Amino acid sequence: MFAKVRSLGLFGLNAFSVDVEIETSKGTPAFEIVGLADIVVKESRERIRSALRSNGTAFPLAKVIVNLAPADTKKSGSVHDLAIFVALLCVTGQINEDISKSAFIGEVSLNGDVRHINGVLPMVMLAKNEGFESVFVPADNAYEASVVDGITVYGVENTADIVKHFGREAVLLPQRPYVVKPEERFDVIDFAEVKGQHAAKKALEYAAAGGHNVLMIGSPGSGKSMLAKRLTTILPAMTFEESIETTNVHSVSGIVDKKTPLVTKRPFRSPHHTISAAGLAGGGTIPRPGEISLAHNGLLFLDELAEFDRRTLEILRQPLEDQQVTISRAAGTITYPCSFMLVAAMNPCPCGYYGHPARKCICGQGQVAKYLSKISGPLLDRFDIHVEVPPVEFDNISSTAKEESSEAIRERVQAAREVQNKRFKGTNITCNAKITPELLPEVCIMTDRARETLKNVFEKMGLSARAYDRILKVARTIADMNGSEVIDKPHIAQAVQFRSLDRKYWSGKAEP
Ligand SMILES: Nc1ncnc2c1ncn2[C@@H]1O[C@H](COP(=O)(O)OP(=O)(O)OP(=O)(O)O)[C@@H](O)[C@H]1O
Ligand SMILES: [Mg+2]
Repeated sequence: MFAKVRSLGLFGLNAFSVDVEIETSKGTPAFEIVGLADIVVKESRERIRSALRSNGTAFPLAKVIVNLAPADTKKSGSVHDLAIFVALLCVTGQINEDISKSAFIGEVSLNGDVRHINGVLPMVMLAKNEGFESVFVPADNAYEASVVDGITVYGVENTADIVKHFGREAVLLPQRPYVVKPEERFDVIDFAEVKGQHAAKKALEYAAAGGHNVLMIGSPGSGKSMLAKRLTTILPAMTFEESIETTNVHSVSGIVDKKTPLVTKRPFRSPHHTISAAGLAGGGTIPRPGEISLAHNGLLFLDELAEFDRRTLEILRQPLEDQQVTISRAAGTITYPCSFMLVAAMNPCPCGYYGHPARKCICGQGQVAKYLSKISGPLLDRFDIHVEVPPVEFDNISSTAKEESSEAIRERVQAAREVQNKRFKGTNITCNAKITPELLPEVCIMTDRARETLKNVFEKMGLSARAYDRILKVARTIADMNGSEVIDKPHIAQAVQFRSLDRKYWSGKAEP
């Protein structure tokens, strides 16, 4: 007897289809799985035998060989358990209908329960693109799978459900397609809760408008973390494509929220400073996405930047430029997307009060220099906007005046993004911060006096070519926010102002 059941596999973000072929022949009873299966797939044998028994079906008294094709693709994990189980039902005559347009994925436990798996979304998307009509997934993943339009999704609790479904005893009901509820787009935190700090808020508004990386420096309790946490509330709404891209990464990591399976709010990832390089960039035997990829299309917030391990931080340099990260391991090479906005906050010194207007810093110059030197020049160069967050003034903190809401700020940000969308139509650039070097002269046209200002600054400050590019991009955003086609002198001046903290703190000339 021979049967073929369709399944799906995943390597990184790339889904592929897998054929589970089964053959039973006379001979000493045996159960073999071949086709480059890793150890977990081998263990499937025991799980499936046991599940079959718990469903009251006898294991065929024959030589059973299962082949997972194509054999040259590495399959791992337990996602094919359900398909192997179904294949056994086919050869034992419990399924007689044509199931070639259905795919089966899921891990089977000893008692037949079908358990949650990671990466369901990219797999179901592939199934749809390959023309499958239906897909059977673990019940726990059904909601996530229902995000994909145009394919029937069945959630399976237990292998017994499959037996009953195909035996027409009790058919499974398809999962209803997922529709985003409007309230899922709202945040509970709001910029209106931050009193005063108008300069810092304006800087964050520019950052959000152009997708620029921001570094905030200030004394303890000045509100840096508070401001950063609210930054996602003023970012433009995610497009459906962005939502799918981000959800794919979250799906592979198994962190998709059960109640809201589509990521519709820009991610805000804020890893602790003790995070390892692999945790940040991705890693593992079969490389899994790191925090930078989980922050794809959203924000990566590094609070207490100077406390991070210096080598860990240096890893960020390449992904920040390329917007993707490639991880190589023995199992293969995987590329994950990581287009994120980097936001970091730090104190200027170990005690936190270096440069404070009222309190005296107790650190020695050497200590301050050592603390600041944890942020290397190249990393510092990648922050387009530096913001000094001064201590909140009493009048501000005690004021009852209403502050501007996130919604009002977001409207301006969205308007600036629309200008950018028009500008970058037909390219894969999404915002000013991502302008490629080739496109820079074309879209960043300066007036003569703007060019003169930039030339003076470039020579006086000894700017790097990267800093030059980045100043120009920030100036582009400032011009956009002010409704100007060309970049004028005030736009350049403001953009340069946003880079002034590296001179204040990192030039080694400042007095505490
Ligand atoms: N501008 C502000 N308006 C209202 N509350 C504020 C403001 N700034 C700070 N706070 C209050 O102070 C608390 C501490 O702020 P926050 O944690 O953001 O400081 P921080 O700058 O990150 O400090 P640290 O350097 O110690 O991490 C906030 O939770 C908030 O209650
Ligand atoms: Mg903080």
